[in-house]
Amino acid sequence: MDNILTFKNVNAGYGRVQILNDLSFEVKKGDVYGVIGPNGCGKTTMFNALIGLIIPTQGEITFNGQNVTKMPANARCQLGIGRTYQVPRPFEGMSVFENVLVAAVHGAKCSEHEGREVALEALKLTSLYEKREIRAGELTLLDRKRMEIARALGTKPQLLLLDEVAAGLTEAEVQDVMKMVADLKAANYSIVWIEHVIQTMVESTDVLMCMAEGHNLLIGEPREVMNSKLVEEVYLGVEEDE
Ligand SMILES: Nc1ncnc2c1ncn2[C@@H]1O[C@H](COP(=O)(O)OP(=O)(O)OP(=O)(O)O)[C@@H](O)[C@H]1O
Ligand SMILES: [Mg+2]
Repeated sequence: MDNILTFKNVNAGYGRVQILNDLSFEVKKGDVYGVIGPNGCGKTTMFNALIGLIIPTQGEITFNGQNVTKMPANARCQLGIGRTYQVPRPFEGMSVFENVLVAAVHGAKCSEHEGREVALEALKLTSLYEKREIRAGELTLLDRKRMEIARALGTKPQLLLLDEVAAGLTEAEVQDVMKMVADLKAANYSIVWIEHVIQTMVESTDVLMCMAEGHNLLIGEPREVMNSKLVEEVYLGVEEDE
């Protein structure tokens, strides 16, 4: 089977407020799938529906061919869906290693022994191995982002969800993030990556979706999507939000 993830005509929101509006897209195994769209268009909400924080009122979400639309969040995490948060919530007083270990033991339900191995592997993949004993609260912004990804990797995902991990970084740091994503792809992770930093979306993704008002406005080759009139128009009215 070719797709790791499909959204089919999904509606979802918060209480009575519907945010996702007939959202459909599919992600091939092994791809880096980019998602752009103006502030508030529902990108993070799409992740919330995918991990089970909110349950769609219409449509279907399948992961590796299995219908997960109404599955509880912890069960999805154990199936292999791992996310980073747009606003990271590390345990500041714990070491970097302990933060990732918690994800492995609680997210992936690893034994402590296995959790240690999974955590160390995640720290190597994110270039944090040497910093594993540092307190999380003392990390630089880039290393915090790395740790967020390591924590997601700690849950042993097949599909990794990245929510604006490049936001607020310098150009050189953005290059580091792009290198890390390339390494993760090479290590066989499938990735959905939400980002406003255009360079990352053009250079690091295999397919790009632009969302608008909770819907899949345009999906295609990243450069073509980025240069399209439709996408330009959708951003024009909201430039000041960027
Ligand atoms: N927990 C919530 N309860 C109610 N409304 C929410 C909640 N979270 C988000 N929203 C609303 O849902 C809409 C979509 O928000 P969402 O966070 O998905 O946008 P986004 O595309 O990720 O934007 P950004 O690029 O700014 O991160 C917004 O109008 C937002 O105010
Ligand atoms: Mg968001």
